[in-house]
Amino acid sequence: MKTYNVVLLPGDGIGPEIMDVATKTIDYVAQKYNFGIEYEQKLIGGSAIDKYNDPLPEETLKACKSSDAVLLSAIGSPKYDALPREKRPESGLLNLRSGLGLFANIRPVKVWPALISESSLKQEIVQNVDLVVVRELTGGIYFGQPKGRLQSENGERAFNTMTYSTMEIDRIARVAFELATDRKKKLCSIDKANVLDVSQLWRERVIELSYNFPKVELNHLYVDNAAMQLIRQPDQFDVILTGNLFGDIISDEAAMLTGSIGMLPSASLRLEGPGLFEPVHGSAPDIANKDIANPMAMVLSAAMMLRVGLKENNAADDLENAIDKVLKDGYRTSDLMTNGKKVLGCREMGEQILMSL
Ligand code: NAI
Ligand code: MG
Repeated sequence: MKTYNVVLLPGDGIGPEIMDVATKTIDYVAQKYNFGIEYEQKLIGGSAIDKYNDPLPEETLKACKSSDAVLLSAIGSPKYDALPREKRPESGLLNLRSGLGLFANIRPVKVWPALISESSLKQEIVQNVDLVVVRELTGGIYFGQPKGRLQSENGERAFNTMTYSTMEIDRIARVAFELATDRKKKLCSIDKANVLDVSQLWRERVIELSYNFPKVELNHLYVDNAAMQLIRQPDQFDVILTGNLFGDIISDEAAMLTGSIGMLPSASLRLEGPGLFEPVHGSAPDIANKDIANPMAMVLSAAMMLRVGLKENNAADDLENAIDKVLKDGYRTSDLMTNGKKVLGCREMGEQILMSL
């Protein structure tokens, strides 16, 4: 029997509650499809600060590096707001992503049939939304040097640097082209090439690479227009390719097309080596320990892990079909529109998903 080594990082806030639901569903499909999962649970974020005074202990990073996949819930709590930036829970996650070299962030945005009429946008606008944002995750303005603050004759001055090399652009663009090849063969690259030098290089490289993927239809949008198009006619998009900053904003905007942030999974990948799979949302401290969190983004992240990380496609399909079924059966958590629907807590929703498997 094939056995995979998976590191679990339940993290903070609602993290442990939703992780508990996810592992139960993984165990169920593992048994059904006859593969084994060995979990290794580690600390990151606030829980790691409490124990080791370090948001990413060495042993956590080491375990992740030697695993087959990493499944993370979320980190963060207002309890640590007073700490300096490098000591806070969030830096544990940033250091984990860069420590594992996870340059490709993949965020599928799909509207579940049962939720189409519950979106904040009109039904006819969102009904065909099924897109994927491919965001560069370890470069761009979030990491560029120089950065900092200094005194100038006009008072203090602060600066960051947006920078991309051809190597960084080529490798993320290749991920997007390959994904587009497997989907509708449509790729939209987002930049600000009318203003930024870094975007000019980005666009040149993407065009250059497109000659290797002649079946993929490529177009380019400036990021401001893209933000508008996503709301105006989101079903024109299939695969979206962006740098780190634009991708951060565009992918959150795209997320809102689906109704709740509690429905969205993500994967952060590199070419070889374990990927990191996590919901798009954070640790939701406002609802932690109340047993009302939506565990579906977490279960869908587990499905992405099974499909992309472990190549257990049938098991992944089962988890996604179970989510589809509970929604069609009228079950909701309280973050979704609940008019006339059966409202469940986190644990009850987990049981309902298990029963639908
Ligand atoms: P958040 O995503 O944690 O919460 C935003 C809002 O959405 C809250 O009202 C929350 O209750 C709700 N929400 C989020 N996930 C939900 C779920 N599964 N079910 C039901 N409702 C849900 O973002 P926020 O409030 O900006 O940040 C809270 C903490 O999480 C901060 O410490 C932040 O740094 C951290 N964070 C961590 C991330 C990660 O681990 N990848 C990502 C984003 C934020
Ligand atoms: Mg964001």
